[in-house]
Amino acid sequence: MLKGKTAVITGASRGIGAAICEKLASLGADVAVIYAGNEAAAQAVCGKCSGEYGVRAAAYRCDVADFEQSKETVSRIKDDFGGVDILVNNAGINRDGLIARMKESDFDDVLNTNLKGAFNMIRHCSGIFIRARAGKIINISSVAGIMGNAGQSNYAASKAGLIGLTKSVARELAPRGVTCNAIAPGFIATDMTAGFDESNALVASIPLGRMGTPRDVAELAAFLAGSGSDYITGEVFRVDGGLAM
Ligand code: NAI
Repeated sequence: MLKGKTAVITGASRGIGAAICEKLASLGADVAVIYAGNEAAAQAVCGKCSGEYGVRAAAYRCDVADFEQSKETVSRIKDDFGGVDILVNNAGINRDGLIARMKESDFDDVLNTNLKGAFNMIRHCSGIFIRARAGKIINISSVAGIMGNAGQSNYAASKAGLIGLTKSVARELAPRGVTCNAIAPGFIATDMTAGFDESNALVASIPLGRMGTPRDVAELAAFLAGSGSDYITGEVFRVDGGLAM
């Protein structure tokens, strides 16, 4: 159970982030829903969490790539909820393209959101965690960060970077009672993979024979957010139907 805990989830208005938010709320956590632009969707997630599970839920508009905005948002959440216990860095984008033609801005945008965004949030939450001598950080990486993927050099670099960030933060904050782990999803059915369907050749190569669901990822996030994972840190968990084994 996560009753009495406050979870901050970035990119939580849809897809994997929304599923994680709802799962943590179902276990009793109060949730801070960070969204980039779609306020109605973020409010709908809040409404579901407070309506169905009776937890406190509030939405915060924030571009996680922006250091100052992230700082201000964490500070507001701390004031509103009294602290932060769980941070899920889920916000992410892709700007796929072949390396020979990739625009500089596509590289920068992906790194800034996926990697620097996680840095910003960890940076601003770390003081709260250190003072509490507790905290759970969960970074949503990708199997692309483990295997690489043609056409996704920017995205794979950002997700591999997240793994290095996860392990370094895990080592640094372990003496303070804070854990930091990464989840590496494979193909999960969300807006990000809207072009995929079950007949795609890549999907056919998944040993378990199907794309994953946001819920498949949320179940692991819930475990990593709870006390059952207290002795696990610096680990990367694939949720990919066996794709990258
Ligand atoms: P999605 O596109 O549905 O959700 C991503 C969310 O991040 C959106 O709500 C978006 O508004 C938000 N976001 C983007 N930039 C932001 C910013 N600068 N500040 C704040 N929020 C921002 O995608 P999905 O599939 O739910 O992805 C969630 C995470 O899982 C991403 O980090 C993605 O890279 C990762 N992932 C997804 C996989 C998939 O197959 N769907 C596979 C592996 C990893």
